[in-house]
Parts: sequence; C-alpha cells; structure tokens
Amino acid sequence: HSGPKVALLGANGGIGQPLGLLLKINPNIGRLALYDIVGTPGVAADLSHIDSPAEVKAFTGPQELQKALEGADVVVIPAGVPRKPGMTRDDLFNTNAGIVRDLCEAVAKTCPKAFVAIITNPVNSTVPIASEVFKKHNVYDPKRIFGVTTLDVVRAQAFVSTMKGTDVSKTTVPVIGGHAGVTIIPLLSQVKPSVKFSDSEVKPLTERIQDAGTEVVQAKAGAGSATLSMAFAGERFVNALLKGLKGEKQVQCAYVKSDAVQGVEYFSTPIELGPNGVEKILGTGTLNAFEKQLVQSAIPELKSSIEKGVKFVKK
Ligand code: APR
Repeated sequence: HSGPKVALLGANGGIGQPLGLLLKINPNIGRLALYDIVGTPGVAADLSHIDSPAEVKAFTGPQELQKALEGADVVVIPAGVPRKPGMTRDDLFNTNAGIVRDLCEAVAKTCPKAFVAIITNPVNSTVPIASEVFKKHNVYDPKRIFGVTTLDVVRAQAFVSTMKGTDVSKTTVPVIGGHAGVTIIPLLSQVKPSVKFSDSEVKPLTERIQDAGTEVVQAKAGAGSATLSMAFAGERFVNALLKGLKGEKQVQCAYVKSDAVQGVEYFSTPIELGPNGVEKILGTGTLNAFEKQLVQSAIPELKSSIEKGVKFVKK
C-alpha cells in the first residue's frame, strides 16, 4: 500500500467513525490505522470492505498504541469525551487533557516527525498540552502541531452563503483566534467573493458562528456534540496536510503556535501548509474595528486556556 499512513486515535467514537469512513475513501491515503480503547476491530472490518485503496488496520488498547503509530505521517486525535448539555468545553478539561497528554507521549516516542492534528476539546488547551509533551521529549516542532478549527470555517461558510445566497462551494470565510465561544472570530470583512453585511447582520451572525457548537449540543439533547460536521471538517484538514506533504501548498486556518497576535502564544489565522507543516503564517489581514474588538475580547480567555494546558503538563 503506497501512500502516507494516517493514524486515527479515538476511531470508535462519534467523530472517529465517520472520520474513519472519510479517510478510508480518501484516495491519497495508503494506510489507515484505527486506534481506540474499545471497538476498533468492528470498525476496521466494516471499513475494510470498502473498495478504496487505503489499507485499514485495527489497534485496541494502550498495548497496541505503539504499533498503530509506527510510521505514521499524520496522527489525528478525536479521542476524548464529548460535551453534554450544560457543560462548557472547559468542563471536559481534566478528562480530555489527560487523554491527549498520554496519546502525545506515545506519539513523541514512536513517530515524533508526524503531523499531529488535534480535535479533542478544549482545543485552546489541548494544543498547548501536546506542545508541552513534545518539549519534554525534546522533539517539539511547532510547525507540526495543529488544533483543528476547520469546523468553524465550514460553519461560517455554510451560514454566510445561506444568508447571502452565494455559491457555498466558492464562498470562503477566514476564522481566526481559538476554538471556543468568544475566541472564535469570523472575519466577515474578508469573505470572498466579497459580500456586504449591514451592521445589524454582523453581530448576530458572528455570535451564531461562535455558538454553533451549542446549537448541535442542544439539538442532540444529551447525546453529545457535533460529530458528522466535525468529521467532515477533520477530513478536509487532514487532506490539506497530506497535499502539503506532497508539495502542493495549501491555505487553511488552524490553531498553531503563532506570533500573529501579541501576548498569546497560540492563535489561529490562515496558514500555508507544505512538506514541513506550517510553511508560513499568513496572519489576520486587515481587521475592521468590530473584529479588532473581538480579538481583544478573545485574548484573556485564550491566555488562560493556554496557561491551563501548560500547567497541566508541568504539574
Ligand atoms: N485513547 C483512545 N481513545 C479513547 C481514549 C483513549 N485514552 N479515551 C476515550 N477514547 C475514545 C472513546 O472510546 C470513544 O470511542 O474516544 C472516543 C470518543 O468518542 P465519543 O465519546 O463519541 O466523543 P466524540 O463526540 O467523538 O468527541 C470526541 O472530540 O470535538 C471533540 O469535544 C469533542 O473532545 C471531544 C472529542
């Protein structure tokens, strides 16, 4: 099986299963390693019957984690517990922080050069957690660690095109900042092709994009958070990483180590992806007054989420 290896950690989950399906039918992938603490043989047997080239293998439990990771070019992590109604993303912190730390320990030992795409929330903290683990093992490369914020972009593009009647397949909306609540900053002034929003449209649309995760949590009424749209977004981001790896430069928004905004160590902006991961941080572009205000409101929460993640690993 020629082509890159992708390891999916948390492959039996609400996100993991549809993400595994989308990765299985991605023609750019040679090998797909499905890892979870439970249930991977069933998912792998099921997916392996699809007549697409990727070879699918199951790995179950910590004793098989190393084998799942060996030779991986990209590691995608949706392992964790999802948000339930009444829970904020931060309520998940302790459980998910420990899961991401332990999985990244294994990545640092087994495939330290892999790109690591983290879906597990709170992403604003789990990306710093992963980074601290890699630092501890002296294999830290900030160009290779990504918080997947693609769902915020996907949602913004869906909502804007529905509202304005534009062709959704051609509508692009950069979303910067982080991946929770007020840290999610859609740049409606930079929508392409350009559309005009009235003042009375900008605020509610911005808030809808920021709270879109809650719409899904409430509609699912106790059954979890976004899984299908998240899987779609995750596959889009992994595919961009794989194309970048092949030398086809890609532009995506992602939450990475960045100096785009003073005072916060990790920040999402459009970035250029290539063979080394982050090739260039493209930055925020020109913000209007409203967007500048959104960035200012996001900074304290970003700072404290980052600090919380760093402390979790250091303690
Ligand atoms: N290693 C590997 N997999 C694990 C581990 C672990 N240590 N702990 C839990 N898992 C697996 C579970 O067995 C389950 O299959 O992670 C999967 C999580 O699936 P769900 O509970 O269905 O959660 P999901 O909706 O997929 O969300 C997972 O992604 O977007 C985030 O906020 C979301 O943090 C949550 C995560």
